[in-house]
Amino acid sequence: MVTSTAIKNNKTPKRNTAHRVALGEITPNNLGQLKKLNTVLFPVQYSEKFYKDVLEVGEFAKFAYFNDCCIGAVCCRKEQIKESNQGTTSDQAKLYIMTLGVLAPYRNLGIGTKLLTHILQHATLTTQHPKFVEIYLHVQTSNEEALAFYKKYDFEIVATVEGYYKKISPPDAYVLSKKL
Ligand SMILES: CC(C)(COP(=O)(O)OP(=O)(O)OC[C@H]1O[C@@H](n2cnc3c(N)ncnc32)[C@H](O)[C@@H]1OP(=O)(O)O)[C@@H](O)C(=O)NCCC(=O)NCCS
Repeated sequence: MVTSTAIKNNKTPKRNTAHRVALGEITPNNLGQLKKLNTVLFPVQYSEKFYKDVLEVGEFAKFAYFNDCCIGAVCCRKEQIKESNQGTTSDQAKLYIMTLGVLAPYRNLGIGTKLLTHILQHATLTTQHPKFVEIYLHVQTSNEEALAFYKKYDFEIVATVEGYYKKISPPDAYVLSKKL
């Protein structure tokens, strides 16, 4: 049923598709799938180191499946925070979202939310060591879709990095951050 609220907001109501969505592991055997997805989703080419690191972060890198088809993924990096002055590592860390994307036909179905919720849940587990105190990422300043998505989940723009991207226009990025 199309509700009056949905009509007022000029949005197509979402069908209940949650039962068709699942998350899955990224392994050496399906890494090629991630490379293909990233080629379609992002205007940036990722290095072999990116793909090597993805295999080491456990729950912080996941595929999203819709009806058993791979249609999205999230890949994060853990960054241990250094003690100021001494250069030694503290017991606190940041989680950096390197990529989070859903293929265009499957957007606005809550799949990006499912990927983000998964990493947030794992980042805030009391058993996490080192403890994550922040999650952050870079977003191209023109990427309104992604900015709206992250703002909905209380990420804030904390900086603008001019010339962050070398081969795409605009080259500038916002740093979006959320304290955990
Ligand atoms: C950003 C992205 C991951 C969102 O994925 P998604 O599966 O469409 O997101 P969801 O369906 O979970 O949307 C959740 C909320 O985000 C916001 N949102 C998502 N897309 C939006 C859009 N195009 N315009 C406005 N708000 C939007 C809405 O508030 C939405 O909630 P609502 O529909 O209940 O209002 C997706 O657009 C994408 O893959 N973009 C290309 C890759 C990219 O730029 N990634 C970000 C940099 S890492």
